[in-house]
Amino acid sequence: MFWLIFFTLQAVCTSVAHAMQHYPAAWGHYDVCKSQIYTEEGLAWDYMACQPEATDMTKYLRVALDPPNITCGDPPETYCALENPYMCNNECDATTEELAHPPELMFDFEGRNPTTFWQSTSWKKYPKPLQVNITLSWNKTIELTDDIVLTFESGRPEQMVLEKSLDYGRTWTPYQFYATDCLDAFTMEPKTVNDLTQRTLLDIICTEDYSRGYVWKNDKTVRFEIKDRFALFAGPRLHNMASLYGQLDTTKNLRDFFTITDLRIRLLKPATGATMVDENNLSRYFYAISDIKVQGRCKCNLHANSCVFDKGKLGCECEHNTTGPDCSRCKKHYHGRAWSVGSYLPIPKGTANICIPSNHGPVRK
Ligand SMILES: *[C@@H]1O[C@H](CO)[C@@H](O)[C@H](O)[C@H]1NC(C)=O
Ligand SMILES: *[C@@H]1O[C@H](CO)[C@@H](O)[C@H](O)[C@H]1NC(C)=O
Ligand SMILES: *[C@@H]1O[C@H](CO)[C@@H](O)[C@H](O)[C@H]1NC(C)=O
Ligand SMILES: *[C@@H]1O[C@H](CO)[C@@H](O)[C@H](O)[C@H]1NC(C)=O
Ligand SMILES: *[C@@H]1O[C@H](CO)[C@@H](O)[C@H](O)[C@H]1NC(C)=O
Repeated sequence: MFWLIFFTLQAVCTSVAHAMQHYPAAWGHYDVCKSQIYTEEGLAWDYMACQPEATDMTKYLRVALDPPNITCGDPPETYCALENPYMCNNECDATTEELAHPPELMFDFEGRNPTTFWQSTSWKKYPKPLQVNITLSWNKTIELTDDIVLTFESGRPEQMVLEKSLDYGRTWTPYQFYATDCLDAFTMEPKTVNDLTQRTLLDIICTEDYSRGYVWKNDKTVRFEIKDRFALFAGPRLHNMASLYGQLDTTKNLRDFFTITDLRIRLLKPATGATMVDENNLSRYFYAISDIKVQGRCKCNLHANSCVFDKGKLGCECEHNTTGPDCSRCKKHYHGRAWSVGSYLPIPKGTANICIPSNHGPVRK
């Protein structure tokens, strides 16, 4: 009985991790770049498409806030609870470690009691908007493999945009809009991820699913649903990853959709509770985030199965005689044919598309 419950829970909670990392061999692991085989001429290398394992990408990011001085505690401030203006025991003081709420606390270990979190200044300048950009940068292209999950310590924002960049922060595009009222905030019809189909997978939607702050106090998370989007091709429990990989192989837009170098959380309006903003007690309104989850893997164009963090920088350990942070070029003397991304097909080992020696180069076979 105990075991049954354990396994059931485990199955529900980690179905994606399993699907992504431990799917049956028939679907391909893509965790090996080459293996030795015996041929008539003796030992030879067999090359395969490969990619690094998915992991917690928050260990490798840089965080920047805009405005930079928006973190609470300088000068020290006392906050009241959103749902109870007489409960004012939340003190923020940047000079005292126990009372400070710096941005790093969004990425520290969860499960501490009390929770640690980043917190903004309060909405002192109401009705001037209280807006904050939180920018997460990897300085490396990465591929998302699981939902992005933000956990808010106080109410969830009433308006927010999640944006992404694919060019190291030069240009930004929205990933998803969040509001208590999508029409009012962004003149967009409210939708949910369940409204998406294979054809409309790349549509950018506004959702009202994650913005109710006051009534649903126990629901503290805001999600960007990667798994549900994968499921449009891979089936509800991601049992058909081959189908997803096949699509990723042939549709560059789809591959790029899940690929980022940076994320930006644009907090546009804090939770104000069920009533009007109480102008006499603006210390009830602020943003506080206790956790941000970003699961993914380095994008290595299927030419590396490992990615290392060295001197503050992520880089693929390129195989197949490719090079560059994303293995997106052929190594010197290996320009015998044009560089090409590896392919997930045919399942299960894919095609390595290795770089071959230049015809007239100094290196010969
Ligand atoms: C942040 O700095 C700007 C100018 O440097 C200033 O106008 C603003 O009041 C500061 N904000 C806070 C919350 O201290
Ligand atoms: C309003 O905020 C102050 C602190 O700024 C607090 O002392 C007070 O109890 C709060 N509540 C009300 C209802 O005024
Ligand atoms: C946040 O980023 C957006 C663009 O992504 C920019 O327009 C805005 O000025 C930035 N700063 C703030 C405080 O919102
Ligand atoms: C980003 O990585 C490149 C090398 O790929 C490096 O030259 C640059 O300094 C890095 N930028 C930051 C902000 O770390
Ligand atoms: C890459 O080049 C080296 C040196 O010539 C060679 O030993 C190796 O087998 C090559 N690898 C691939 C994947 O072609």
